[in-house]
Amino acid sequence: MEKFVIQGGAPLTGTIPVSGSKNSALPTLAACLLTGETVTLDRIPPVRDIGTMIDLIRHTGADVKVEGGRVTICAANVEKPEAPYEVVKTMRASSLVLGPLVARCGRARVSLPGGCAIGARPINLHVNALEQLGAEVRQEHGYIEAVAPQGLKGATVEFDRITVTGTEDLLMAAVLAKGESIIENAAREPEVVDLANLLIKMGAKIEGAGTSTIRVQGVTTLGGTQHTIIADRIEAGTFLIAGAITRGDLTVQGCVPEHLRSLISKMRQSGVEITETAPDALHVRVPGKLKHVDITTEEHPGFATDLQAQFMALMTQAEGISFITEKIFENRFMHVLELARMGANIRIEGRQAIVAGPTRLSGAQVIASDLRASASLVLAAIAAEGETEIDRVYHIDRGYEHIETKLNAVGAMIRRETH
Ligand code: EPU
Repeated sequence: MEKFVIQGGAPLTGTIPVSGSKNSALPTLAACLLTGETVTLDRIPPVRDIGTMIDLIRHTGADVKVEGGRVTICAANVEKPEAPYEVVKTMRASSLVLGPLVARCGRARVSLPGGCAIGARPINLHVNALEQLGAEVRQEHGYIEAVAPQGLKGATVEFDRITVTGTEDLLMAAVLAKGESIIENAAREPEVVDLANLLIKMGAKIEGAGTSTIRVQGVTTLGGTQHTIIADRIEAGTFLIAGAITRGDLTVQGCVPEHLRSLISKMRQSGVEITETAPDALHVRVPGKLKHVDITTEEHPGFATDLQAQFMALMTQAEGISFITEKIFENRFMHVLELARMGANIRIEGRQAIVAGPTRLSGAQVIASDLRASASLVLAAIAAEGETEIDRVYHIDRGYEHIETKLNAVGAMIRRETH
């Protein structure tokens, strides 16, 4: 097992680069299963979840080549349209292969994800959507088995609640369905738009991605193409907060400021100075005291749940009481007790965390519980006095590319140790 040993207190200065988006790479990799031709994807981040998705795609029989950030996939032969439990239990997003496999092969077998640290996270909405396109779905031995021997048929599907991977799964199924599909109450996340852009390059007919209504005219086959995926807005946001929490002078390079609007607006309200120094770069600095700000997580373009834990770390350094309300997941406050071990003053009341600040953070031994919770502990640790040990950093490796190397290059002091 690996841990981080972090010496806190150094302001981050310089320029930090942003990698390609994990949550965009996952569906775009799955989309390669929709064609027998070669698809090349660039800027794929070498994080653990991506390795898992690549294993899953190889498991189906597709040919996958990885060269740096470039992944080339040829799914000419999909012999095993399935996602086994061993893979799905380590990564819920494996359910993203369900839609493309049923659409391409007429059948798919995907293990049910089971519980996860941040809540129940079922895939009922994915399954209902596929049923509306004509798939017959049954659940047996912990697996979802979907068949559509005559192919899928376009339909109007309205999601009961907004789901990011559910929208992506349905979109990948609808592009090869017969006739028109309309997806209502669709997720509007930039990752959905990126997926749609790739699918359009492959020959799909899609309109409205990025809005709540997506229209798809099914086509019979899709072809090969090249696509460079978007910047990781959550990594970029984490770095903006890293610059602010250490009172540094940091440029976050290679991001899309438009994707970070709600975070930028809340950080500015708190007294952080954020300047767009280039179309793809944001500079962060804290000229005075930090002030308390309330946030409520929402679907895009609202405040991202994937930045809630990191923003909470920042609010421990702000004057006054901040109310942080989590509306997307029911159990996403696992970082609170660990932040409290470092000196934070936070109370949980249902779906709300109440942060009283500013508090002096001091290094302690803490445990990472999920990906974004671990990021918040790293942020608290680089701002704290003394040494922090964060155990189980495999959680952070799921979604951040060499976070310690990137942060150390701008002044942080993080050591990875095996124990
Ligand atoms: N939900 C259902 N049934 C479903 C699907 C979702 O009840 O069939 C519920 C979930 O339990 C949750 C809510 O709907 O309460 C929204 O979940 P959503 O489906 O949008 O989440 P997701 O697609 O599983 C993606 C990201 C998450 C991110 C959420 C919300 C990927 C691979 N994952 O998950 O990212 O938190 O959207 O924005 O895109 C992360 O990167 O750390 C991460 C967890």
